[in-house]
Amino acid sequence: MDRCRRGCSRGDEARYVCNSRTEQRCLRQRSGFCRRRWQSRSGRSNQPTSLRLRKRMVANTNDLVDELVVRIEASNPMQRTMLQSSLAGLRTDERKRLHRYLEYCEDSGFDIDQLAEAYNTITLDTLREQVYFQRNGRYRYSRFDEVAGHVYHNPLYMRKYMYGLAITAYFWANHREIYRYFEMVIPRRQGGRYLEVGPGHGLFFLQAMALSRYESYEGIDISETSLEMTRSLLSRQEHRDSNRWVLQCGDFLAANELVGPYDAVVIGEVLEHVERPDLFLMRIQSLIRPGGFVFVTTAVNAPAVDHIYLFRTVAEVEHMAITCGLNVVDKLVTGYPGCSIQETEQRRLPINLALVLSA
Ligand SMILES: C[S@@+](CC[C@H](N)C(=O)[O-])C[C@H]1O[C@@H](n2cnc3c(N)ncnc32)[C@H](O)[C@@H]1O
Repeated sequence: MDRCRRGCSRGDEARYVCNSRTEQRCLRQRSGFCRRRWQSRSGRSNQPTSLRLRKRMVANTNDLVDELVVRIEASNPMQRTMLQSSLAGLRTDERKRLHRYLEYCEDSGFDIDQLAEAYNTITLDTLREQVYFQRNGRYRYSRFDEVAGHVYHNPLYMRKYMYGLAITAYFWANHREIYRYFEMVIPRRQGGRYLEVGPGHGLFFLQAMALSRYESYEGIDISETSLEMTRSLLSRQEHRDSNRWVLQCGDFLAANELVGPYDAVVIGEVLEHVERPDLFLMRIQSLIRPGGFVFVTTAVNAPAVDHIYLFRTVAEVEHMAITCGLNVVDKLVTGYPGCSIQETEQRRLPINLALVLSA
């Protein structure tokens, strides 16, 4: 490989060549420069013709979202139908936001090929776990220490996983519904304190800061990698100078530094990752002020590499929340396409749900 012609101080190798100016730049320098003609050198030679043609068309649209979809499909053709219908359902503002997110990823050194790989990793890993679940009627793991080492404390895997998961917030209909629901229900209030447990990639945290007006925003995550990703996302232009947010690494159940009352507690896709979700809900109940906003998302019959607590019905989740002293104010349940929720539960197909709770 050649060296970046822009004299990148880190001496990164050039992976892209711009045909219009025959200039070479490394990935870090690629962003914002004549994107329409950039082509991956490594990806060119052994692609089928139709894919090459599609890539060329995409290059001319100058659109990172299309570029990502083409790259995902190249190595995972089974995703094609789903992705095409997903793209058709994306709102213009969502597409713009996804585009900005992809630009941000590239600027952080995670290029489109790596993002496609991250997305494919999460879809294939989930598929494998679904097969296991359908055969055995349970998730593969049930203890935190069985998954923590190769997921939360494995920076290589965790980064991939979190980038992939962030993309599903736009591409998977169920995740997108939940994300839209969050945007709709988060209070647009002034003042007060916001806490997020397990921000992971940071998308919900970022959106909360964009839509609400709390005085302070706190986040806690057990994974250093997740925290680093959330921190980096928040440090983007619009929140760079902000002193309104603070992130800490640790187990939510053991973090004595968190002292209530909070006006909002958000916990997205965490309950199914822990051994005792009831203890998480109880702690939330003890931290939230009466009448405060609690937003919980979780998954029912939805295996993944690190899901260790199996909820079998939506009612089970609601019952647990109520037993922990929380009231269900509102909810969104996304069943399997074409099935009622009851049928989805009976067939043990995945359900995602979001609950708005209060104490
Ligand atoms: C699947 S990600 C969820 C990311 C994001 N909130 C979402 O809804 O897409 C789960 C996150 O919870 C974190 N987590 C798991 N157990 C935790 C614990 N005991 N305390 C704090 N964070 C935890 C993980 O490190 C990971 O970042």
